[in-house]
Amino acid sequence: MSAIPLNLASNSEFDTRNVFELEQTDRLKYLHTKIRDKTASKRQFTFYADQVIRLLLEQSLQRLTFNNKQVTTPVGAIYQGKQFAKPICGVSVVRAGESMENELRRIDLNIPIGKILIQRDPESKLPKLYYAKLPEHIEQYHVLVFEPMLATGGSAICALEVLCNSGVKPENITFVNLLCSPEGLANVTKRFPDVVIQTSSIEQCLNEHAFMIPGIGDFGDRYFGTTDLGAV
Ligand code: PRP
Repeated sequence: MSAIPLNLASNSEFDTRNVFELEQTDRLKYLHTKIRDKTASKRQFTFYADQVIRLLLEQSLQRLTFNNKQVTTPVGAIYQGKQFAKPICGVSVVRAGESMENELRRIDLNIPIGKILIQRDPESKLPKLYYAKLPEHIEQYHVLVFEPMLATGGSAICALEVLCNSGVKPENITFVNLLCSPEGLANVTKRFPDVVIQTSSIEQCLNEHAFMIPGIGDFGDRYFGTTDLGAV
């Protein structure tokens, strides 16, 4: 795994060509208000986070390439429809990325899901790859990478390297993300300019502890309820 340049203060210009932020509607801000609130219970957090995740997944799927497909309706007429040009798979960056699997299953139960386990060193914030289990012939798929948080971008780059080393072309990857920092986007888009990044918010900046501002806290802890015994 490569070392990630953590030049957080000055490196926040990023290549915008393949970075897509959801439209910042009042409705989306309402959902963000629910999940960014530090007093949100686990139930509130997961309930509203799932709605943002659904929007991200729908927007990610709409950007894919479709082919024509005809079907015959029950009244014998022809419907000129569409089908995905490539099969789709998901790959979750464990643990926080697994939060996106439920909504994906609500969209299509047959989509295979792989896992990549990456954990950051608490001090250096540098990512370490522990485990990867990917769908067979993953190079034939369009891959949706599930990772709600992109702070320094180190974990994202590590996950994208695993996929590209497995034969996936960067243009066949969509990185599905809730919050990202300009600094992290600069690092990721420099290394992988052809990967599409679909996010719900480009944050203001990273602080000195590599936390996004205004941010949401530790997404994995809040989604899976591993910090507060009383929050249900
Ligand atoms: C968090 C988050 C991302 C990563 C982002 O994971 O879920 O995976 O940090 O940070 P980066 O862009 O600076 O690499 P964490 O290591 O806290 O693990 P978790 O998913 O178990 O919460």
